[in-house]
Amino acid sequence: MSKISSILVFAILAIPLAGFSSEKTHRSALLQYDQQIDGIISQMTLEEKVNMLHAKHMFTSAGIERLGIADMIYADGPFGIREEMQPDGWAGLGWDTDKATFFPTGSALAATWSPELAYSYGTGMAREAKLRGKDMLLGPAINIQRIPTGGRTYEYLSEDPFLSSKLAVGYTKGVQDNGIAVCVKHFALNNQENNRGTVNVVIGERAMREIYLPPFRATVEEGDAYGFMSAYNKIGGKWCAENEMLLNKILRQEWGFAGMVISDWGGTHSTVGSVKSGLNVEMPDKKFMGKALMDSVKAGLVAEDIVNQRVREILRVRLAIKAVPENEANKQITSQPAQQKIAYEVASKSIVLLKNDGILPLQLKNKPVIAVIGANATQIMASGGLGAGVKTLYEVTPLEGLKKKLEGKAEIIFAKGYDGAESNRFRRRTPEEIEKQAQEKKLNAEILTKEALEAAAKATVVLFIAGDNRSVETEGTDRKDIFLPSGQDELIQKIAQVNPNIVTVLTSGAPNDLKNVNPLSKALLISWFNGSEGGNALADVLTGNISPSGRLPFTLPVKLEDSPAYALGNYPQGKKNADVFANLVSETEDAAKAQAKKEEVQKADANTAYYSEESLVGYRWFDTKNVQVMYPFGYGLTYTTFDYSNLKTDQKEYGVNDVITITLKVKNTGKVAADEVVQVYVHRINPRVEWPQKELKSFSRVPLVAGESKNITLQIPVKSLQYWNVTKQAWDDDLCNIELLVGASAGTIKLKKKVALK
Ligand code: BGC
Repeated sequence: MSKISSILVFAILAIPLAGFSSEKTHRSALLQYDQQIDGIISQMTLEEKVNMLHAKHMFTSAGIERLGIADMIYADGPFGIREEMQPDGWAGLGWDTDKATFFPTGSALAATWSPELAYSYGTGMAREAKLRGKDMLLGPAINIQRIPTGGRTYEYLSEDPFLSSKLAVGYTKGVQDNGIAVCVKHFALNNQENNRGTVNVVIGERAMREIYLPPFRATVEEGDAYGFMSAYNKIGGKWCAENEMLLNKILRQEWGFAGMVISDWGGTHSTVGSVKSGLNVEMPDKKFMGKALMDSVKAGLVAEDIVNQRVREILRVRLAIKAVPENEANKQITSQPAQQKIAYEVASKSIVLLKNDGILPLQLKNKPVIAVIGANATQIMASGGLGAGVKTLYEVTPLEGLKKKLEGKAEIIFAKGYDGAESNRFRRRTPEEIEKQAQEKKLNAEILTKEALEAAAKATVVLFIAGDNRSVETEGTDRKDIFLPSGQDELIQKIAQVNPNIVTVLTSGAPNDLKNVNPLSKALLISWFNGSEGGNALADVLTGNISPSGRLPFTLPVKLEDSPAYALGNYPQGKKNADVFANLVSETEDAAKAQAKKEEVQKADANTAYYSEESLVGYRWFDTKNVQVMYPFGYGLTYTTFDYSNLKTDQKEYGVNDVITITLKVKNTGKVAADEVVQVYVHRINPRVEWPQKELKSFSRVPLVAGESKNITLQIPVKSLQYWNVTKQAWDDDLCNIELLVGASAGTIKLKKKVALK
């Protein structure tokens, strides 16, 4: 991948995309209201129009009471309807009726590899939003998981744009089919939390178009998303909330988005630039889009037609979404059984089994003693993470789930093992405080370890419930590393000495370093931040009531430094000589000038995220660069085995408008029912342009009972194999021979077939 092309983006992004050659195929259902809207706008004063373009309260923007147009009421999202707060503050109102269902978080949903479950999930979220009288849900959150440490990795879906797109579309349709608008966030390139409010992303256009934008594009073109939230960061030097290229050119003109864009909270930075570039609502203030906008219109800096257009886009959504009358909202408790059932279904299909030497499912014949060790066994994962915290009606913890399922079948003993309250975030402390806390921590750890070892020594099997929690993984801060927190690596080593029968369960939403825990565990699972029903789902998997069937939505690297943005010194920013660009500049100029420029670049670096790994994100990097991984993207075991055979395509050669139809047979060759997730990757054999070694282009989750065979059909439109031609400013075909790689993960290819694109 060329590094130079990333530099070009500054120039490219500055050029208006005149003569854009990608045809717009999407026609939004929102356009049907335009005539009616003309009538409404013609009756509105300028004050009434401007009044709609900024917040009324923290989670409301104004309608026009005089004309019977209701306010827009927003709700966080993305995995549970947020509690009711004071209109202009963050303090909860202390209601009982606002207790919501906590749905599994983003990476858990993605681990199901099921657009159908994503649809149910959206349905569940929308039903609860309706009960609360909301209009627009602030979700789904769908940025690509670029760095394993990203604070919102657990909220986001996947490192892969195709998987993210399919799930984001399912979620979007599920929400909007149930009468609530989505607000797809955060548009775009919010891939880190450190410096998120100041960082400028410098990215090559191909990577932006092929990796980071496709999930957003899919929610518009396939899901007809009604709302978007602009991200906090800058792209190519321009804030996302006033980014003409992003909002007007790509989102509206190119993709055909007809709805409204709201800023992330506090993410608006200008008046004229924002309203002209396509921002509809400044949230949660009116610093730029209130009086300043009125003045700008009066001074002739903003044409009233632009204000009319922004109002029109809001009204389209307002007319499409039926407002819930205030006296009908909040009549019953938000969390209802139908939604709790969806939360269970998603959770039960999200759990990823990474390793199993036969210790699972748990043997219960002789009423074993099971030592459940770990603070995460009782840790509530619904709250934390700022906007994404859920005040849930209930959350079944792993310990509760196990106790319920194993009652009378096993003796359960619990030991906390480590102090989960500890996070890896920094706070300034005095040297005395540091010393005192270190002493207390050591003492506490000794006591907890002793209790854990006593429990382990008595047990037939140890369930080590490890992983992160919602203060370790959170919006606003990235993790400084991916090591298991709270001394968990040291603890498992000690446990293994007294009892080697360890099953480790990681309750994390993002990758962890597994070097220590993997060899010491006879079985290893990820059970995520898995919602209200997480503990029940986990117990069902551990006991074999159901077979695990989640697949990794991201790569688990051997170590953090192997992952692309780290390997290239692109993250964290602001390190001396951190970036390839600093060196690149200096190679071409005389020494003094080069030194000055280098220093300038380094200074700027603290707030500049260079994406010089370009399209090599996640498995695309590990595969192309041949870097060994701990567990590959798409990986996950079950309690059975599958056989793949008879791979066929309907043709040998395909034209640009054709669809490649692939068939194969998959057989469950084991003794229990389970779902297989069949994945198709495309490798280019003799391409004209550079490509990652392989890319996911189709997948299907297939339920199979013991012994059952199914013929599976998967399809890949040749158009979906296009690349973004920077010179032409359009999608283009790379007609070459390709190899279809069919398998159970990016690292487990079982069948291959070559075809030609002509
Ligand atoms: C987050 C958004 C969230 C908003 C409102 C922001 O800090 O980035 O995702 O919707 O707050 O809570």
